[in-house]
Amino acid sequence: MTTDSLLQRRFRVLGRNSPLFYDEPLHLVRGDGVWVYDAHGKRYLDAYNNVPHVGHCHPRVVEALCNQARTLNSHTRYLDETVVNYAERLLSTFDASLNRVFFTCTGSESNELAMRIARECTGNMGVISTAYAYHGNTAAVAQISSVFTPPSKRGPFVRNVPVIDPYRERNGRSDEELADTYVQDLQHAIADFERDGVKLAAVLFCTAFSSEGLPELPRGYLPKVAAAVHAAGGLVIADEVQAGFGRFGSHMWGHALQGMVPDIVTMGKPMGNGHPLAGVVTTEDLMERFTSENMYFNTFGGNEVSSAVGLAVLDVLRDERLLENAQSVGTYVLSGMRALQKRHPLIADVRGKGMFFAVEMVTDRETREPAGARTKAVVNAMRQRGVLISRIGPHDNILKIRPPMSFSTQNADLLLATLDTVLSTES
Ligand SMILES: Cc1ncc(COP(=O)(O)O)c(C=O)c1O
Repeated sequence: MTTDSLLQRRFRVLGRNSPLFYDEPLHLVRGDGVWVYDAHGKRYLDAYNNVPHVGHCHPRVVEALCNQARTLNSHTRYLDETVVNYAERLLSTFDASLNRVFFTCTGSESNELAMRIARECTGNMGVISTAYAYHGNTAAVAQISSVFTPPSKRGPFVRNVPVIDPYRERNGRSDEELADTYVQDLQHAIADFERDGVKLAAVLFCTAFSSEGLPELPRGYLPKVAAAVHAAGGLVIADEVQAGFGRFGSHMWGHALQGMVPDIVTMGKPMGNGHPLAGVVTTEDLMERFTSENMYFNTFGGNEVSSAVGLAVLDVLRDERLLENAQSVGTYVLSGMRALQKRHPLIADVRGKGMFFAVEMVTDRETREPAGARTKAVVNAMRQRGVLISRIGPHDNILKIRPPMSFSTQNADLLLATLDTVLSTES
């Protein structure tokens, strides 16, 4: 089976618009830690994927999955100790006020449920997201996923705030001034709703602002957002699908890193290391108010196997000290990227934290003109040389580098050396 014939077969059954990475799509057949292997046996360094959060096919996660699948897997309407153990362990990583959890199967489902809770409990309908956000694929969530949904399809109950871009917009301003400016954007969106007689139910944002380009948030910005949302009668929904489970190294959750306590937290991707496990964490009060009016259950969400997998992921994060690893290796990657920035004019800004990095590319550092086409070429050239990364941002000019949490300094050296070679060839 050649890659091309598999591609043609895929087109015939999954359609031509089902997204695939890279100009030359990858046919992967095996994964192990930070490595994946294609059908020809070529090895690639995975510096992109947060789904295999603790590493591809981690033996402890696989063992937990197989053991539980061999023992019992039904659905979620029986008593089961593993799901309670998992819920207790997961909730212990949150602020004490966030003490209830719903389990789901995808991040989309989690955001859908979070919006339902917010609308039900506030009695309001308006939801605000950013102008370049991705939160999932259900009908309601697609309306706030501005990256793929044009304004004409967002409906009357959605408003967007502009993407924040401190790299271009700081203009000598302090964090406080910048945060205040960005909160004014939010106030404008709330006022715009009010003009149309719509009241605010929630603001929903990814705490990494990942699709938006992983901007370096001005200190104090998210606490100010929360205060403004609450003053308008809405709730704060923090989407931790990308930032959660220690991605930033110093904190388990992106909102905690920013010093903010949301009303509702949604999570997914890394939670099950590839197994479809996701969730919504909220307060006792919000859960009680929502569930007393709405019967909610989820056949697969948090079933016996999913809970065993979720527990194994938390065990591995703890036992392999992967948050600490993200911090130390992350610092090493950032300094390596900044050294490359000095030698390669294409690199305009390097930012990130823990195991999440953004490398912004411009054609001219004075005008800061986004270098979208060249960034695409870099991503494809990296893939040809065996290192997997991607790109983000409204202009697709920002390298997105977000490896499994077990990424080592040796892996970082390979990433940096390959990027150096590619930039020397591309520039
Ligand atoms: C921030 C964010 N939220 C939600 C989702 C949707 O998650 P899922 O694809 O599991 O439905 C994604 C997926 O890319 C995401 O990045």
